[in-house]
Amino acid sequence: MEYNSHEYLKGEVKKKLDDFRAAHVLSVYEECKKLADIFKLSESEKGSLLNAVLLHDITKPLSTREHIELAQRLGITLENENILCPKTLHAVTGAAYAKKYYADYVNDESYKAILCHTTGKVNMSLCEKLLYIADYIEPTRKFNDCIQVRERFYSSLDQGTPATLCLDRTIVYSLDLTINQLIAEGARIHPDTVKTRNFLLEGQREQK
Ligand SMILES: [Fe+2]
Repeated sequence: MEYNSHEYLKGEVKKKLDDFRAAHVLSVYEECKKLADIFKLSESEKGSLLNAVLLHDITKPLSTREHIELAQRLGITLENENILCPKTLHAVTGAAYAKKYYADYVNDESYKAILCHTTGKVNMSLCEKLLYIADYIEPTRKFNDCIQVRERFYSSLDQGTPATLCLDRTIVYSLDLTINQLIAEGARIHPDTVKTRNFLLEGQREQK
């Protein structure tokens, strides 16, 4: 049943996204399957994660205007901060769209993972962290930053660092690179990006 639901959602991805974006989503799916084994997720956690993966970019092709119109149709309010940081819009509309149109596949955990997958958030669950990082490190991503983050994550795992610590450190590193990139572009930084980084840094300080 779970396998069939993934096949159905993969079909939806191929129908709604262009080849490039669909290949990215399917690559995040493979990455998350690998991560689910590394982090020993239960079958139900893995199912929630993989459904979230398949739907996380479902509204990505939309323009800002289209996101605003979709939000109105879905009856959700977009925060001004999301409109000012347009790369974050598809996480908000995508989560609501997935919940409405794929209700049978989107439980609370899947919904929340889609919702925070671009900025992160304070106190992320393991499922939320795995979607966030897999989105960044999946192997079709060829940006230097993505390659560096992927290499750092897997080499620290290989060196025997506990997986959850590797994950938190890798997310901090990816947030550093994202923030640097936004500064280089002269773009606004969504406050959740900064809050996520500060929260994870504080957690690591406590573990020392
Ligand atoms: Fe993505």
